[in-house]
Amino acid sequence: MAPKVFILNGVNLGTLRQRRPEVYGTLTLNDIERFLKSEFPNVEFEFRQTDYEGEMVGFVREAGGSAGLAINPGAWTHYSYALHDALEAVGVRKVEVHLSNVHAREEWRRHSVVSPAVDAVVAGMGAHGYAAAVRYLLQRGEGRIGGGGNTVGGA
Ligand code: DQA
Repeated sequence: MAPKVFILNGVNLGTLRQRRPEVYGTLTLNDIERFLKSEFPNVEFEFRQTDYEGEMVGFVREAGGSAGLAINPGAWTHYSYALHDALEAVGVRKVEVHLSNVHAREEWRRHSVVSPAVDAVVAGMGAHGYAAAVRYLLQRGEGRIGGGGNTVGGA
């Protein structure tokens, strides 16, 4: 059976390409979805976007029992304790993804309230960050790089 992976995009990510292309690139979310499907033809993707926080919490819960989730929470990253708590409560592997390098931008973007509730964070790699997240989520068992956690070659 194909592993199911949730790709969740939050507030304002539906406007990619129009919104600050010099920061977020020129790919639309549809382009990113197509890219992932071509990179991982054996994965079943649930690719979602919403501007409503409660709806996003529902998506996170839905991902319980899947092979994992990658989430770009947009600006919710920086203040949504509701999203933190929803992520903390779902027992699958989770990766926080940002298209831009949030650490090289405004001070307020450097803090994520979501990071403590996920296994890994990717920032600044554009669409490749989503692919890196999926690759990480698909790692299983013996062959896994980094064993139990987040370090390459770790125990
Ligand atoms: C973002 C970074 C956030 O600070 C911002 O609010 C976004 C997009 C990113 O993908 O780089 O909407 O998550």
